[in-house]
Formats: sequence, structure tokens, C-alpha cells
Amino acid sequence: MADSGKKLFIAGHNGLVGRALVKLYSTRPEWRIITRGKAELDLRDPHATDAFFAAERPEYVILAAATVGGIKASYTHPVDFLLNNLQIQNAVLDAAHRFDVKKLLFLGSTCIYPKVVEMPIREDSLLTGPMEETNAPYGVAKIAGIKLCQGYRHQHGRDFICGMPANLYGPHDNFDPEHSHVLPSLIRRFHEAKNAGAPQVTLWGSGTPKREFLFVDDLAEACAFLLDHYSSGEIVNIGNGWEISIREAAEVIRDIVGYHGEILWDTSQPDGNPRRLLDVSRLTSLGWRARTDFREGVEKTYRWFLENRASARV
Ligand SMILES: NC(=O)c1ccc[n+]([C@@H]2O[C@H](COP(=O)([O-])OP(=O)(O)OC[C@H]3O[C@@H](n4cnc5c(N)ncnc54)[C@H](OP(=O)(O)O)[C@@H]3O)[C@@H](O)[C@H]2O)c1
Repeated sequence: MADSGKKLFIAGHNGLVGRALVKLYSTRPEWRIITRGKAELDLRDPHATDAFFAAERPEYVILAAATVGGIKASYTHPVDFLLNNLQIQNAVLDAAHRFDVKKLLFLGSTCIYPKVVEMPIREDSLLTGPMEETNAPYGVAKIAGIKLCQGYRHQHGRDFICGMPANLYGPHDNFDPEHSHVLPSLIRRFHEAKNAGAPQVTLWGSGTPKREFLFVDDLAEACAFLLDHYSSGEIVNIGNGWEISIREAAEVIRDIVGYHGEILWDTSQPDGNPRRLLDVSRLTSLGWRARTDFREGVEKTYRWFLENRASARV
């Protein structure tokens, strides 16, 4: 990497989002990327985080380090989701303030909006009602992070901005059944069923809920766009404004994986929210749109999964 250019600390560079950010910024010579793995720098530790900021003096920060996971993980590990995320964001935001970072992008999530909310979900509906209970530890931490960014802007004039990504998927996702989100878990289920020659795959719920899935390379482009063009305390939804039912998504994935068995729906299991679609008009009015369609994104993700089974989180 070049040793001149704008210094950007990508926190969480080994994760789904962080890898896509590193890939994108590696093609932009005006940026100089700084990274630290969790083993080298635990961002929950404010002293270690301060020492890193003092030594490296990053000018820009994208905070993509967090404890992230599906419903099962957040239900069984509420302390990890609440405490780790509070500690990481407190340490990083405060260091970014005290070491004069020019701009910082914090990532919230679509799942921290109220459980019952008008669709598509506008940014101003945050905190207008209770969130999904299983998600609350993660959501409360994320809301604290947003409020902290807005507070540093208000009290100290810091240019800290917040993006609210839709459900993400792509290469380097977590395929571990205990921790994965719905899309990587479907890829893995169909892949394993194909290899085992299983006649049927049973999936939870009715398949009727609709979700918005954003390919992670598109998210990385949106983050770079916001870092370049956005400066406000108002949060910004990051999605493609397009939804698909879990049933249709499962059929596309089955097709791409090449599994020819039957899909059964276990309707005794909960469905979750019927819809979760972001209103992306704020982002589109700024001039940004997602590029990757769902089929293309799943094809790229499955190809990556096949080529990287040994090193993937499975
Ligand atoms: N995935 C989604 O669908 C989604 C949707 C909306 C918003 N987001 C947000 O996007 C951000 C990135 O999520 P992701 O999906 O990329 O998660 P991820 O794949 O789990 O990556 C998270 C990264 O954070 C690092 N990390 C965790 N704890 C750390 C610590 N104490 N110190 C330093 N690094 C630490 C992890 O390092 P190790 O690899 O070493 O563990 C990992 O590289 C998060 O803020 C998340 O809330 C994600």
C-alpha cells in the first residue's frame, strides 16, 4: 500500500463489510488504508485504542468492527452484543474526537428500527416504537452509537456520520449456522443438501416475509460515497429500495447452488417481521444507487463460498 494519501482506518477489516471496504479503497490511490486485526488491537480497550490513534493519527475512520450475528446468536449472547458494541464504539468515537479525525462513518442497521413501523422505513422513524425484543441488546448499543456520533457533532463540532445498511450479504460472510444471517444460512443449507443428496430441505416459517438484501460491494461504495459527499447528523438509510420474499430468495439460491430437491416450510416456527424495506430516498437524492441485482450478488457469493470453504466462517 502507498505511504502517502488520506489516511483511512478501516476498523473490522477482516469482516464482511471491512473486506469489501479494503477491496474498494485498494483501487483508490488517493487513500492510504490502515488496518489492525482484533488480535493486535482489541477496540473494546480504550487505552490500546488511544495508543493506536496517537501513533497512527488516522484522518478518516469507517467503523465496521462490531459483534454481529443472527437472531440465535443475539438471543443466546445478549451481553456480548450489548457490552462489546458499546465498548468498541465508545473507545473508537472518543479516540477519533480526541485525536482530531476529520470524518468518521458509523454503521447502524435496519433491524434497530421499531418492530412495527410504516413501510418503507424512513430515517425519522428511529425510536418511535419498541424494537424486536431478540434484537434489543444489539439495537440499544447501535442507538447509543448513533446518539454518540450526533452528540460529538453537536457538542464538539465533529464530522461523524451514520449509515443504516439493509441486510447485507456477499463474499466473506459468516456461514456458521450458530451465527449466520438468513442468506448465508440458506446458501449453506442448500449446498449441504445437494452434497448429501437430500430429497428435501425444511426451512423455518412460511417463506412469506419480505426482506431487502444489499450486496456488500454496493454497501462499500455507498460508504465511500457518504464519506466523500455527506456531512450531517441525520442518519442515512443504505439499501437498494427493493424487497424479495424469503420464499423467492430461497428458490433463487436453490437454483444457483444447483439443488434439485424440494423446499418444505415449517410454519410452526416464527416468521419475524412481515416486511423490512428501507426508504432510500435520502441516499438516492444525494446521487447514489445500488448496482448489483440479487441473482448476480448470490452467484458471486456462492462462487466465493465454493472457492474459500477452507478459510470461510462455516
Ligand atoms: N452483516 C449485516 O447484514 C449488517 C447489516 C447492517 C449493518 N451491519 C453493520 O456493519 C458492520 C460490520 O458488520 P459485518 O457484517 O462486517 O460483521 P463481521 O463480518 O462479523 O465483522 C465484524 C468485524 O469486527 C471485528 N471485531 C469484532 N470485535 C472486535 C474488537 N473487540 N476489536 C477489534 N475488532 C473487532 C471482527 O474481527 P474478527 O474477524 O477478528 O472477529 C470482524 O472483522 C457492523 O457495525 C454491523 O452492525 C451489518
